[in-house]
Amino acid sequence: YYIGVDLGTSACKFLLVDEAGQVCRELTREYPLSMPKTGWSEQDPALWWQACLSGIPALLEGFDAARVQGMGIGGQMHGLVALDGEGQVLRPAILWNDGRTAEQTEYLNTVIGKKELSRLTGNIAFAGFTAPKLLWMREQEPELFGRIAKILLPKDYLVWKLTGCFSTDYSDASGMLLLDVEHKCWSEEMCRICGVKPEWLAELHESWQEVSCLQPQAARALGLPEGVKVCAGAGDNAAAAIGTGTVGEGRCNISLGTSGTIFISRERFGVDEANGLHTFAHADGGWHLMGCMLSAASCNKWWMDEILKVSAADYPAEQAPIAREKLGRNSVYFLPYLMGERSPINDTNARGTLIGMSMNTTRADITQAVLEGVAFAIRDSFEAARSAGAVIPRSGLCGGGAKSPLWGTILANVLGIPLDLPVTEQGPGYGGALLAMVCCGRFASVREAADTLVHVSRTIQPDPELTARYEERYQKFRRIYPACKELFG
Ligand code: XUL
Repeated sequence: YYIGVDLGTSACKFLLVDEAGQVCRELTREYPLSMPKTGWSEQDPALWWQACLSGIPALLEGFDAARVQGMGIGGQMHGLVALDGEGQVLRPAILWNDGRTAEQTEYLNTVIGKKELSRLTGNIAFAGFTAPKLLWMREQEPELFGRIAKILLPKDYLVWKLTGCFSTDYSDASGMLLLDVEHKCWSEEMCRICGVKPEWLAELHESWQEVSCLQPQAARALGLPEGVKVCAGAGDNAAAAIGTGTVGEGRCNISLGTSGTIFISRERFGVDEANGLHTFAHADGGWHLMGCMLSAASCNKWWMDEILKVSAADYPAEQAPIAREKLGRNSVYFLPYLMGERSPINDTNARGTLIGMSMNTTRADITQAVLEGVAFAIRDSFEAARSAGAVIPRSGLCGGGAKSPLWGTILANVLGIPLDLPVTEQGPGYGGALLAMVCCGRFASVREAADTLVHVSRTIQPDPELTARYEERYQKFRRIYPACKELFG
């Protein structure tokens, strides 16, 4: 067996996968997200490790743990985990969707300059990236900053707890703005700019490479043999890409998780000159372009849980009144910027907006507008990728939001392309398991693992008439943010 882990923002998901790639068991351990101030987002790394300590033994119940060979983690990207010399966490991790670093991001993009950042790292600065967080910590928490001995990304914190090794992989390290993504090495210049000492940085690996076996106390605590190999793993989007077979030139995957991402696999390094999209390493040894929205499935969750006060089990009932003839005919629009926005507008001050209601507007119309607003915002990144030269004839779809057939239909028609739903919908966790298989020699390459094991269960085809209706709505949607921009912040 192989264990695939998806270290997410709202939960950690565990998969037990057999040699044939079948998911034998999956389970989830949820944890809270802390938002101490508007736009801030933090989590205590101890919660992730506790999730493993409770989740992995439960995952193995009834299975022969002695047969587990390898483990791979796909993790939420960009989060800053700072450790002192004793290996103690210095402060809660500052997560990918935290917007406190607007000033530091501005400093990097204007004083250092976008051109220079792009030359050094392949990317410009976005508030969620790790480098602006380090600048923030240096300015706002100098005493803690002075005690830093190691900086890790969220999944690398787990790899350290599992193996005792400080490791990272190229896909996840790309999102720190400290890596020279083209040449796959740390950028000394960026480290100097951010006051990062070389000894703070973890050792770089390809995602499928072995970091080490489990250290004895971790093996005992998890009920696993010490011989279990832990591979370097990947950022959750690169891991999801592997888990959905998004490997090789021009393949695309969309994830509707807490964040919404569109991921375009590339065999060669290349940047989006307009800077709306990220250029990161892929977990298959190549690169990718990616647009990231900070709130996707979380917009629906906010609308359902916070405003309508219904639970997840009732989401389908809330969506049931949205009949097919209503699609593309909604006069209500929603800007999904509840946490500010990354791609392609890069605006930490942007906020959610509902616009276009009348006395006839129903609860279901607004529910529909929320789903559509997320789809339109994904279309913004899709267009940015097309402008950067990507040809995207179809895409995979994964993440919690992919469970809603209605949302899938809306998205396929807003983008005007077929969307493939994989048999195993757990993209990052399944990708983690595939990376572990390559690490253990079950497959010779990530590509071979994905080509052999990933299958499409269903394709959502766009309907030309609906696509035309949505095209008209999208052109109106595009005008809302520029018109509201000055009101935010
Ligand atoms: C990607 C990003 C998010 C997180 C979500 O750049 O910030 O997709 O990885 O876990």
